[in-house]
Amino acid sequence: MSKIRLGIIGCGDMEGAHQETFSALADRVVITGTADIDISRAQHAAANLGAEHAVQDYRDLFPYVDAVLVVTPHNLHHEMGVTSLKAGKHVLMEKPMAVSEAECLDLIRTAKSSGKTLMTAYPMRFQPLVVKLKELIDAKYLGEIFHVGIYTEQHTEPPPGHWIRSAQQLGGGQFFSHGCHYVDLLLWFLGNPIKGVHLGTRRGTPWMEKEGTSDAVIVFESGAMGHHFGTWGARATRHGYSIHVQAERGMLEADITNGIIYAHHGFKGPTPRGGLAGTLSPDVKDAEIVMQSHSASKYLQGELAHFLDCIETGATPLTDAAGSLQGLRVIWRMEEAEAQDRFADLRGLGLSQV
Ligand SMILES: NC(=O)c1ccc[n+]([C@@H]2O[C@H](COP(=O)([O-])OP(=O)(O)OC[C@H]3O[C@@H](n4cnc5c(N)ncnc54)[C@H](O)[C@@H]3O)[C@@H](O)[C@H]2O)c1
Repeated sequence: MSKIRLGIIGCGDMEGAHQETFSALADRVVITGTADIDISRAQHAAANLGAEHAVQDYRDLFPYVDAVLVVTPHNLHHEMGVTSLKAGKHVLMEKPMAVSEAECLDLIRTAKSSGKTLMTAYPMRFQPLVVKLKELIDAKYLGEIFHVGIYTEQHTEPPPGHWIRSAQQLGGGQFFSHGCHYVDLLLWFLGNPIKGVHLGTRRGTPWMEKEGTSDAVIVFESGAMGHHFGTWGARATRHGYSIHVQAERGMLEADITNGIIYAHHGFKGPTPRGGLAGTLSPDVKDAEIVMQSHSASKYLQGELAHFLDCIETGATPLTDAAGSLQGLRVIWRMEEAEAQDRFADLRGLGLSQV
């Protein structure tokens, strides 16, 4: 099969992250063009990736590409995606798909009428540790799950004037921009949500126009709960990126930062004084190591490989636009409820309810 010709729209920070991925898949995909409003960035990326064409206006890539990867500020995703689909190009859209429900629906409709693949880049779904964790959850490895906590603690302080600080260009705050990955994972792990609440603060991240730190809590049909704590203000962290799954017989811990999944087998027998003995602070040296993964970059490779598979076979992407919209609806409903000091009704928004 001939290689898929891919164009990159937006050659900022993420372009660098994708470089290793492109070379790993060089037998399936060739980067034929790069576009950036800052032409020097497009030229730099083209030189690094061996692309023949570097352009300022992304539409000038169309004669040379079968598909595009859109890696630009969020408020540009809709226009670039729709124009590319109408030009007959498959689209791998960096997250979040777009900044409003109307924009997402327009993208979905355009993809349908063009017959082209539209996939959201949610690389955590392809992260080997996360894929394994999903298998362990589904197999009830430590029994029924009652809580999944996701922690993402990082320091993200872009320079003054950067689009990430702007609520309009980002489409919201840290929760919309980064939490979208983890709301998507919670829906994938736990099924259909019922209600939720989000609270955020700018304290600690005064450079952000909206919140830089937030807690989101979701209750699911099964009775299980999901929680995401995300911050762009961490000056130090022990969690880094980690996922804690509490189940009947113990706790699964995916230490994403260090590439390990632990199973902490729980206390057996009656708990003395009804207290915490035997359940507190599981020591990692006593835990079962279920998986170790050394490649931090592999998930981008898995994501791009899946996009190429979907183009070649016509299959619906695992992270398709309809499912991705469900996750964004959860976020928007929780933000609306937050503004009105109430819980959000999330019924009807699971990935299985697309
Ligand atoms: N999947 C992940 O984990 C992850 C991580 C970081 C960023 N991202 C996503 O990648 C996207 C880009 O983020 P980034 O960190 O690379 O941003 P960035 O600011 O580093 O790069 C964006 C690039 O887009 C270019 N650009 C702006 N307007 C343009 C236009 N009209 N036409 C062409 N190019 C234009 C800018 O000049 C810049 O080079 C966002 O959707 C972001 O959420 C994803």
